[in-house]
Amino acid sequence: MRVPYVWNLFNINNSVGNKSLETKLFGNSYPSPLGLAAGFDKDCNTLNNVIKLGFGFVTGGTVTLTSRPGNPKPRVIRITKDKAIINALGFPGKGVEYSVKNLKKFQSIKRRIILSVSGTIEDEIIECIQLSKSFISAFEINISSPNTSGLKVFQNPSRLGELIEAVKKNTDKPIIIKFPPWNNSFDNKKEMIKLIETSLMTNVEGMVISNTHPKESKSIKIGRGGYSGEPIFPDTLKMLREVQAINNGCADIIACGGISSANDLWKVLACGAKAGQIYTSLVYQGPSLPSKINNGLIKLMKIAGINKINEINGEPPKI
Ligand SMILES: Cc1cc2nc3c(=O)[nH]c(=O)nc-3n(C[C@H](O)[C@H](O)[C@H](O)COP(=O)(O)O)c2cc1C
Repeated sequence: MRVPYVWNLFNINNSVGNKSLETKLFGNSYPSPLGLAAGFDKDCNTLNNVIKLGFGFVTGGTVTLTSRPGNPKPRVIRITKDKAIINALGFPGKGVEYSVKNLKKFQSIKRRIILSVSGTIEDEIIECIQLSKSFISAFEINISSPNTSGLKVFQNPSRLGELIEAVKKNTDKPIIIKFPPWNNSFDNKKEMIKLIETSLMTNVEGMVISNTHPKESKSIKIGRGGYSGEPIFPDTLKMLREVQAINNGCADIIACGGISSANDLWKVLACGAKAGQIYTSLVYQGPSLPSKINNGLIKLMKIAGINKINEINGEPPKI
């Protein structure tokens, strides 16, 4: 993605600019509901090129205040037969100041960049925000990496509430919280719903539902990681419906987890999400995927006789 110019070719057919894909998210306007998920470009090196593939918005990071080596290798594996990945990267990165140097170069796309930030104490996150807030359109706060143990402190409702309030005193940019997935075990689900309710009470503008799913693996050095890709898509839909039941439209929901086609994007939008982010499907299907999804969504909308993203409803029409 670092090679310049090549990616301009993708601009020709990615349908970014087609009015029917226009998406309103936390008061901002984005030219497609399809976004790049966090983790693909941790140091914000190539967001100016990745966006040309057809993304309405791109999420840089997750960045942390200081540089980090991440976990020992092997820390990423593909499970090809399932079109899935397990990763336990543990936030390797050069630190926020390095990312900010890159972001300064991308000011023409500033209003389409979301920056994912994280840390294990409030002050780290707030300093990241102060250093980068002039160069991005919104912040995504990652409290949900399964590979970074310290992050769990913010999975306590009162700590999360305090964090959001502190962050809001330091920026007027929209705040999105990226939640961990939950399962049907009663306690886990109850805890997560409580976290989401706390976020809504503190008036966050957005929520990402959700992150990778914890999974053990002998092929990963630390013995476990986060599972992503097509197999987690049914859980994404289930969680979206549960969140939508308590959200009342207060915060904009971004779906993330296993989206790999225009049909999938339609389904998450029909469940009440305002946008969807992808990572693993891009790895498997390559750089033409965002164009394919945008064009496919336009085709589905035409068949359904609608021309606005927020009119998407029910099952995708059969082609
Ligand atoms: C290799 C890899 C690295 C990731 N790094 C991050 C990260 O730094 N921050 C984050 O919030 N999510 C990270 N994620 C999670 C993705 O953003 C996304 O939530 C997850 O992969 C589910 O979406 P997908 O099935 O489309 O990949 C990472 C995922 C992968 C596969």
